[in-house]
Amino acid sequence: MSQPSSSLGKDLVGLESLSAEQILTILNTAEPFKEISERRIKKVPVLRGKTIVNLFFEASTRTRVSFEFAEKRLSADTVNIATSGSSVVKGETLVDTARNLEAMRIDMVVMRHGSSGAAKFLAERIPSNVINAGDGSHEHPTQALLDMLTIRDHYGKIEGLKVCLVGDILHSRVARSNVFGLLALGAEVAVCGPKTLLPRDIAELGVTVFSRVEEAIQWADVLNVLRLQLERMEAGFLPSLREYNQVWGVSSAKLEQAPGDLLILHPGPMNRGVEIDSDVADGPHAMILHQVTNGVAVRMAVLYLLTGGAPDTAEAAKEGAEG
Ligand code: NCD
Repeated sequence: MSQPSSSLGKDLVGLESLSAEQILTILNTAEPFKEISERRIKKVPVLRGKTIVNLFFEASTRTRVSFEFAEKRLSADTVNIATSGSSVVKGETLVDTARNLEAMRIDMVVMRHGSSGAAKFLAERIPSNVINAGDGSHEHPTQALLDMLTIRDHYGKIEGLKVCLVGDILHSRVARSNVFGLLALGAEVAVCGPKTLLPRDIAELGVTVFSRVEEAIQWADVLNVLRLQLERMEAGFLPSLREYNQVWGVSSAKLEQAPGDLLILHPGPMNRGVEIDSDVADGPHAMILHQVTNGVAVRMAVLYLLTGGAPDTAEAAKEGAEG
């Protein structure tokens, strides 16, 4: 039987392969789920009886906790595995780890991994649903989805908006997922950062390249400021963090030149005083904590849709009615 074109299929590995319709289905399904987190009792029976493993091979605060809250608020049973306390440190392969989890009859794996392609590799080898919570420098689809939901909350639309990703584009899975998602939804997308931190073929993705933050500020409706991924860098990418801040950092002095409304996003964790100054991060343009709130709703939507939930019955399912 062919699936409706809005359906996501088994896994969420990235936004590159999703249509505008599929992305909008996730964003629209996140809307009714937002309210669950505002309730006094933050729990609905949508995923009752489902078992989810959060398998994190790389450090994470926001993403891991956000997935766990989303799962728990939908009543799934969850287990968290961080590699430092798992058999991976004894040399077990990813597939062996996953097969052993499968043998305990799980339904879904949410995985973060340092290697680009790890989520797809796993998704092709196990029957459970796989959600990519970040794979190397490749994709971080739920982050881009929550970024887009936040932009839509502010501007009421995505289509036609000008969004610039600023900073370390080269190492950023957030940048790649944003580029794919935003272009699919009809935004104009630009990137801005030092040449050493831009992928050489970036313009081929259909984005504009700015060589100065000041130009990006003149142009954009949204700046999504990215963390310098110092842990993924060899020496030689940057002269110094202080110079980086002066040239590429987003400061309130630079923002004063913005011609109109300019929304500031950052996926976190922030290097305050490096890519973003504190007065900007805590200032009136920023919706950084709103992004974090939206992350839970977006992840609830993805969990719901991947486990077979229909977009138009999310509201009823949330109230415990038969969908
Ligand atoms: C991002 C990540 O891990 O890719 N953070 C996140 O998930 N909120 C961005 C980053 O680490 O800079």
